[in-house]
Amino acid sequence: MKVGILTSGGDAPGMNAFISKFTTLATAAGFEVIAFKFGYQGLIDNSTKPLTREDVSNIAHLGGSNIKSTRSSEFLTKQGFKRAIQNIKLNEIDCLVVLGGDGTLRGAKELSAAGIKIVYIPATIDNDLSYTDQTLGFDSAVNAAVDAIDKIKQTMLSLNRIFICEVMGRHCPDIAISSAIATDATILIKEAKNFSFKEILSKIKEAIEEGEEAPSIVIRENILDVFELAKKIQNELDIETRACRIGYVQRGTSPSVMDRILARKFAQAVLDLISSKKFNRAVGQVKNKIITKNLTEI
Ligand code: F6P
Repeated sequence: MKVGILTSGGDAPGMNAFISKFTTLATAAGFEVIAFKFGYQGLIDNSTKPLTREDVSNIAHLGGSNIKSTRSSEFLTKQGFKRAIQNIKLNEIDCLVVLGGDGTLRGAKELSAAGIKIVYIPATIDNDLSYTDQTLGFDSAVNAAVDAIDKIKQTMLSLNRIFICEVMGRHCPDIAISSAIATDATILIKEAKNFSFKEILSKIKEAIEEGEEAPSIVIRENILDVFELAKKIQNELDIETRACRIGYVQRGTSPSVMDRILARKFAQAVLDLISSKKFNRAVGQVKNKIITKNLTEI
């Protein structure tokens, strides 16, 4: 059997761990593994690379995706989609393993509806797929955010400053929630509708009265301009306030232990599905158990 593999959209820590384990398991089982580079764009451009055990022997601990990724706008066009299907057929791919977030999932469902045999792996730092408790990359991103916030806190504490840390997540608050809890943030802003400037000021004042020396705000991205917010707080309270966007260190970080283990579990699950010829399924983890669901159900 010839298995294609691609990573699409924003990369996620743990993608390489999955690629490494899956290639090792699949080639040992006698399957051929072929990477399509740059995700769905690689299907359109027919950019392929056969993967051997040797190719993947030293990548499992690395962030990013060694087979490259992209957000392909061409794949969303009729022409692009048609070319993608043609190249899957040209390469005689029996099953395509697709890693990525919600946009990637939509593409996987369309390919499956067009007759391509698909297995989908949820891989995004955002954790915004409701059928699985955990997406690959989320735990690593939270660990990177917490590590950054801890360090920022040390300098803010030295100067008794208020600080704001913006974390990633696109429109999903999970990274913000977990990193706010793990760093004992004074305030968590996870949705625009929760935001009240008056309430923020009163919470900060209260925290300072209770002895907090460097009150912190953890906020999900795409809500407001954190640098403007810092200026407003500083003007209002007359206390030095700083903001930072933690940004891509959350995405490019090395996979955490939890993500490395999850990647290996997902790889085994995909091998089991393919070996028993069960296709068009999405793999996930619910209550610590690996599950698979029909792509049409999610
Ligand atoms: O989906 C992962 C993610 O890192 C989001 O958290 C973020 O909003 C987005 O990707 C950024 O995407 P890009 O790197 O394409 O600007």
